[in-house]
Amino acid sequence: MIIYSRNRRLRVSATLRSLVQETVLMTNDFVMPIFVMEGSGKKEAISSMPGIFRRSLDLTILECKELFSLGVKAVNLYMKVSENLKDNTGKESWNANGLMQSTIKAIKDAVPEMIIMPDVALDPFSIYGHDGIIKDGKIDNDSTNDALVKMSLSLAEAGADILAPSDMMDGRVLAMREALEENNFTDVGILSYAAKYASSFYGPFRSALDSAPVDNDDIPKDKKTYQMDFHNSREALDEVYKDVAEGADIIMIKPGMPYLDIVAKVRSSIDLPIAVYNVSGEYAMLKAAAQNGWLDNDKAIIESLTCIKRAGADMIFTYAAKEAAILLNNQ
Ligand code: PBG
Repeated sequence: MIIYSRNRRLRVSATLRSLVQETVLMTNDFVMPIFVMEGSGKKEAISSMPGIFRRSLDLTILECKELFSLGVKAVNLYMKVSENLKDNTGKESWNANGLMQSTIKAIKDAVPEMIIMPDVALDPFSIYGHDGIIKDGKIDNDSTNDALVKMSLSLAEAGADILAPSDMMDGRVLAMREALEENNFTDVGILSYAAKYASSFYGPFRSALDSAPVDNDDIPKDKKTYQMDFHNSREALDEVYKDVAEGADIIMIKPGMPYLDIVAKVRSSIDLPIAVYNVSGEYAMLKAAAQNGWLDNDKAIIESLTCIKRAGADMIFTYAAKEAAILLNNQ
């Protein structure tokens, strides 16, 4: 039998395989989420996320310098603030001298070219651990938007490059865009978490920031009234189109690996850049398996990030950014 068409012909050597590679992962693709805490000289390990730490600002700056020199040129910021700074309005998030604001200024100062993407949501600043303000036992959309606008202006004032609202309130991209335009922050971008699902994969992140919704019968125990239902796919496109119309510059899909069908679908429907969040639970699963010797850590990291890019991501938020950058630089 003559087989004219043999797919294996183009797989015979590493050089030939590299010639026909469709997707190539680069350090430019990564955004590193970092956790900042109060104090100085502090570095605390996060047990459910091996290799990831909460750092005080001085050590955060050193880490940012190292990340930049490795080719990781964007950071996504999360703050762990003390309980006494938390309330229902999340007002610490727009404190001009708050931890987030000082962090943005210090990174800008030390590594001016680093792209700074602070998270915009109230949960690390809320006594209830919710992304919005609670009114009558519910998450109140519109007063939360007012708070997010205050937070956005304060972060823009501090020097943020791109704001990353992860809260999933309706209409917040428009409210933020209008406020930024009116206050001369025309170059500050919005990376909107458009399709963010209510996911069990955020567990390790919430323990890192101590930001899980509190167990109290008077408030919702989960985030399902604002984050999306994982049974749905068409709804993701609806969310994306609305955020694009409201003025988002980049669209986020989150989580990553179990949601690559959503990434591919959004990729084929819009032309704006797409960010995908390879979330804490995905990182924790990989690390747990690697620590047990069940997976090859380095290979599994490069494969999973490449596959996220193959599905349509232009950039990937990942806790493995530093590790992956080192692997790519040594390849
Ligand atoms: C909160 C926020 C969350 C994450 C990013 N921003 C958690 C949540 O929505 O409860 C999750 C990130 C991760 O799990 O890595 N606004």
